[in-house]
Amino acid sequence: SAISVPPPKCLQKPLVVPHRHMFGPGPSNVPPRILELSLGCMLSVLMPFSIMSDIKSGIQYMFQTQNKVTLAVSGTGHTAMECAIFNTVEPGDSVLAAVNGIWGERAADMAERIGARVNTIVAPPGGCLTIEDIEKALSKHRPVLLFLAHGESSTGVLHPLDGIGKLCHKYNCLFLVDCVASIGGAPVYMDQQGIDILYTGSQKVLNAPPGTAPISFSERACQKIFSRRTKPVSFFLDLSCLANYWGCDGKPSRGYHHTGPVTAFYSLRESLAVLVEEGLENSWDRHQKVAEYFHAGLESMALKLFVKEKHLRLPTVTTIVAPHGYDWKEITSYIMKTHNLEISGGLGPSVGLVLRVGLMGCNSSRANADMVLAALRDALKHCHRSKV
Ligand code: GLV
Repeated sequence: SAISVPPPKCLQKPLVVPHRHMFGPGPSNVPPRILELSLGCMLSVLMPFSIMSDIKSGIQYMFQTQNKVTLAVSGTGHTAMECAIFNTVEPGDSVLAAVNGIWGERAADMAERIGARVNTIVAPPGGCLTIEDIEKALSKHRPVLLFLAHGESSTGVLHPLDGIGKLCHKYNCLFLVDCVASIGGAPVYMDQQGIDILYTGSQKVLNAPPGTAPISFSERACQKIFSRRTKPVSFFLDLSCLANYWGCDGKPSRGYHHTGPVTAFYSLRESLAVLVEEGLENSWDRHQKVAEYFHAGLESMALKLFVKEKHLRLPTVTTIVAPHGYDWKEITSYIMKTHNLEISGGLGPSVGLVLRVGLMGCNSSRANADMVLAALRDALKHCHRSKV
């Protein structure tokens, strides 16, 4: 019989991808050095162990951890988030999600989907939770897992981590931290801060294409995971399979589990090499200095920062109070059209309230901060002031 779906016309034209300054909350620009690696030739589904082991060492450095079970999940930050939750939580377990923006809400949703009893503690918009808030909730709900976003890209909050790990352990709870938007741009010390599971994505400070997600599990996390009563709901994200695929389980041979995004792993390795070359502390320092410079520039234009307390401001993603009287969508599209530059509006609880600017990895420079300031100045001059 004849085919009834004709070849689509749209695919008979070449795809033209414009160059853009990616100064939103991610993905950020991928420098040629990292992009070139994604054109590398394909290797087997079981990549050479040396590449995987280099990636593992790079993640251990970036996370400041000695954890054996350290790997990169095939997928974006959401995949790592589900990997963390699906492996640690069994149906009926109590989970506590600290909500200081969208990511806590997402973690609560994921845990609910697998039958956990979920409670949340909610920080004020643009603020954070206190150690007392957290201890009260831990002692009330006795969760097996506490979720916290370190870099809350929707509100622009950098949540303090010190003391929370110790508190979790006092209540026999695992401490899960999302550092997708913060790692490499702000200090995180996984082992010293008692973080049991930490994950990130490749497309922010690392400047690699989206699609790989570093994650690491402490010994305590592994003990809970490897003594589960039930199998994790996901085969793809089952840590015992992933640990074997990544050669983290001490077994002499690695078996086939899934086909990883091989070329994306080459880029991830290169992005970690770039971080190693600059040095973590230098990278933290550069992001902090550029953020302070950018924030001062915004304030000099009478724009307001959504996060009032300086030490809670994420150095990678800045949230600017949506300028009064303007339609924020007009501002972002004007800047895109006129300056070829992407910034974004709010996300989840911050929709309509903020503009978000990300200066991450190679994008974090004074020159780029100046470019965004000039674009904003121009937009405020040319966009309509509504009567609202
Ligand atoms: C995605 O990570 C975002 O913050 O928009």
